[in-house]
Amino acid sequence: MNSGRAIGGAPDRLAFGGGQPLRGRLRLPGDKSISHRALIFAALAHGTSVITNLGTGADVGATARVLAGLGVIIASDGGAVVVEGSGVEGLTEPGDWLDCENSGTAMRVLAGVLAGRPFLSVLSGDASLRSRPMGRIVEPLRAMGAHVDGPDGATRAPLVLRGDALHGIRYELPVASAQVKTCVLLAGLQADGQTVVVSPAPSRDHTERMLRALGAPITVDGLAVTVTRGAPRPFEMAVPGDPSSAAFLAVAAAITPGSEVVIEGLSANPTRVGFVTVLKRMGCDIELTATGEVCGEPVGDLHVRASELHGTTIEGDEVPNVIDEIPALAVAAAFAEGVTDVRDAAELVVKESNRIGTLRVVVGKLGAGVETRAYGLVVRRGAAGAAAFASHGDHRIAMAMAVAAHALPAESTVEGWRVVASSYPEFAHDLARLSADDTS
Ligand code: S3P
Repeated sequence: MNSGRAIGGAPDRLAFGGGQPLRGRLRLPGDKSISHRALIFAALAHGTSVITNLGTGADVGATARVLAGLGVIIASDGGAVVVEGSGVEGLTEPGDWLDCENSGTAMRVLAGVLAGRPFLSVLSGDASLRSRPMGRIVEPLRAMGAHVDGPDGATRAPLVLRGDALHGIRYELPVASAQVKTCVLLAGLQADGQTVVVSPAPSRDHTERMLRALGAPITVDGLAVTVTRGAPRPFEMAVPGDPSSAAFLAVAAAITPGSEVVIEGLSANPTRVGFVTVLKRMGCDIELTATGEVCGEPVGDLHVRASELHGTTIEGDEVPNVIDEIPALAVAAAFAEGVTDVRDAAELVVKESNRIGTLRVVVGKLGAGVETRAYGLVVRRGAAGAAAFASHGDHRIAMAMAVAAHALPAESTVEGWRVVASSYPEFAHDLARLSADDTS
């Protein structure tokens, strides 16, 4: 059976199954978080930047289109993306509202840029994005002097921004969110005085690493990050592969007997590879080897072999480090001996779907006992032979269930596949290519 086959010519419903081992080496499209930042930092710089291996997902495309709507010239040149930056002051008032589509990162991070621009802009997106919390960025932006409007006191998008002269603030983040941290820091690069953002726990630190590598005025002291007015310089960067995409293939290899894969040139940023630590703790034969650094970002190769897994507990400060990988890890848990307990994961509720509720439904279909709590879930080993899954409009749920379906003995389906385009459009193709019986 060829995993990732469209059913009846309907590309929105794919069939997987048969448990063919995954074998081989591959490189993944660029990391989504780094790709958003590379495009935005290139736009904020004065001069030409060249980005290769940019993420191929629709979310990154949305950021590029929003920047184009603000007058930034972005062109493709072979495999490279060339951005002509004119500095933040070179951005121009858009002629229409700006569509962030399904991307929380695009909306929250670009709001920080637009908060200081002296023109009117409207950020909106699809129904999922318009239901996600925006009060978390609006509160600090207003405290810095920005004018932001929107439904229910601007707690949700569409967000209407009319930028103004901003002043620096010290802001204690209520949640460990890299999107909110980055939003405030990018507003801070346009503000008078110092802007200090203090996180309650570590979150992904691409903004800090990249801005520092690009010469912007940023300092990091533990969980406090300080910026003053300034800009990054133009740059050339090959974006490392996306560890959040790799996590799905790593779990697929871990739970499918006979598998052994190497994923090369991956972002090895310590704030992103918590899933490697969790899988290792579950008994997985998995190793991440450092190979270099690009623009302040560590790069490495990930080696995974199929293993007998057992349950674990994921809680506290580890959670922000694996927040996007919990759907994949929940599938690993459903194929593991014993119990896996995910705690302190309230942020799962406000992702592309309510991932606590969604995982209860989809992982439950594996015959795994799934209990949910307010801020987490408990997963036990499942015993299903086949299942019909739905993506619930969430790209990471779709890929997690494809991984589960691939490992099941009989043909299983994932409905609503189209959403995978948000982050990893090539996923079904890559899974099939690694499968031993792939004939493509
Ligand atoms: C991201 C931060 C995380 C993550 C998202 C990407 C980023 O969100 O879930 O997929 O690029 O900064 P939060 O900041 O809401 O935790």
